[in-house]
Amino acid sequence: MRQVAIYGMGGIGKSTITQNLCAGLGEMGKQLMIVGCGPTAYSTRLILGGVAQPTVLETLLKEGEDIRLEQILKEGFAKIKCVETGCPEPGVGCFSRGIITSIGLLERLGAFTSDLDYVFYDVPGDAVCGGLATPIREGKAQEVYIVTSGEVMSLYAANNIARGIQKHAATTGVRLGGVICNSRLVDGEAELVSVFATELGSHMIHFVNRDNLVQRAEINKRTVIDYNSQSDQADAYRVLARKIDANKVMVIPQPLEQNRLDELIVEHGLLEAV
Ligand SMILES: Nc1ncnc2c1ncn2[C@@H]1O[C@H](COP(=O)(O)OP(=O)(O)OP(=O)(O)O)[C@@H](O)[C@H]1O
Ligand SMILES: [Mg+2]
Repeated sequence: MRQVAIYGMGGIGKSTITQNLCAGLGEMGKQLMIVGCGPTAYSTRLILGGVAQPTVLETLLKEGEDIRLEQILKEGFAKIKCVETGCPEPGVGCFSRGIITSIGLLERLGAFTSDLDYVFYDVPGDAVCGGLATPIREGKAQEVYIVTSGEVMSLYAANNIARGIQKHAATTGVRLGGVICNSRLVDGEAELVSVFATELGSHMIHFVNRDNLVQRAEINKRTVIDYNSQSDQADAYRVLARKIDANKVMVIPQPLEQNRLDELIVEHGLLEAV
């Protein structure tokens, strides 16, 4: 079983990519579970067709420890198993502890069955050194993919995430599997993200185009693969799924010095303007 975590700046496209990628892996016949670790519980919405999933923590609060797996685990597109950990009461409680409690409960209830090929953790934001790094710190996710675009802030966040992975690599065995570029139509974007990934010691595993079809599918509460299976965008997610399935490049990343990252951004980002 490969346990994979998807990290990146808030709003960069982690949940969209995770669900489309899983839809692609599901079409390939893989058995999958997605564990959404966000307070918003939107990590599995497109796989479940918009069905509101009761989170692990709210169910715990309501029903106590005596929970059946079916109450917190629902199957959606391609029989993908979906769980949302939820958040301790808003503004109260330790978020990271909430995730640990949820994962522990899932383990006790037998959610991590041996037939699973993949478990994906969809983790909010970029605070990999803070509480949100839980799936890594607890030694659950062994493989991380960072989502970024060519936009400056998302690259800064990606570099910080690489620093977090490096920090936890020795104790947990976590490795970076690659950088996914989710395009924001920035000048020189593919080259910039590709060079950035290479300097981390990794690679840009895939470049996902920006496409309004993603929004149309989202409005319909479906992945692009489910909503418009014949589209180029659906194929892009399928290619990403195949690349991740075949990926053997797992590294301890070397984060870039701030100056070097800024240099790369200027070098590539201003190319078109020259
Ligand atoms: N390739 C794309 N083309 C067009 N729109 C996209 C693309 N990828 C993501 N989006 C849009 O960007 C928005 C944010 O995506 P998403 O919710 O997946 O981000 P996130 O990283 O999971 O955010 P958060 O950190 O809040 O969990 C969504 O509304 C989605 O439709
Ligand atoms: Mg998300």
